[in-house]
Amino acid sequence: MKGKDVKIIIPKRELKKRVKELGAKISKDYAGKELILIGILKGSFVFLADLIRQIKIPHKIDFIAVASYDQEIEGSGAVRLVKDLSANIEGKNVIIIEDIVDTGLTLNFIRKKLLLRNPKSLEIVTLLDRKERRKVQVPIKYVGFTVPNEFVVGYGLDLGERYRNLPYIAKIEGGKLTQRWFEL
Ligand code: IMP
Ligand code: MG
Repeated sequence: MKGKDVKIIIPKRELKKRVKELGAKISKDYAGKELILIGILKGSFVFLADLIRQIKIPHKIDFIAVASYDQEIEGSGAVRLVKDLSANIEGKNVIIIEDIVDTGLTLNFIRKKLLLRNPKSLEIVTLLDRKERRKVQVPIKYVGFTVPNEFVVGYGLDLGERYRNLPYIAKIEGGKLTQRWFEL
């Protein structure tokens, strides 16, 4: 990848600082409570890995994976469950971990599905929030950063399964790559 293709918008040290703050906040808010963190695969796995090392109270982790239906149905918010939880969340305090909230359709689907299982509480933490593109309002308790209306990669976020390994959040400038996202 050439340097000019990628522009860092959130450097490594800022991610580290914010993740530490979020971990401290969650540790305080959930002290003495039974906590399960649910990562939405695949994008959240890097954030989740760093976040749990900043959470200083006992907790469990689990994962859920979803896929969008084709483009036409996608507009309706239809999402398909690809991998379900292994844990039973009934009566538990649950926090969903997301990489980025864009339209809100994915999280809205997951949140509704999990609420049917009667958790004691259900909150959301997202590393990134792209508020401008929201189609469905979802209550988000903890936000890492608000990002502008541009496609971003790195720190778990991908473009066609690439760039997840970048240690920072970057935008890919110009050309086809960005265009592809606007066509979604
Ligand atoms: P939503 O359902 O529109 O809120 O989209 C959320 C999902 O789309 C996230 O979990 C990401 O996997 C993906 N996504 C949205 N925006 C971006 C981006 O800028 N970079 C990488 N993935 C994104
Ligand atoms: Mg993704």
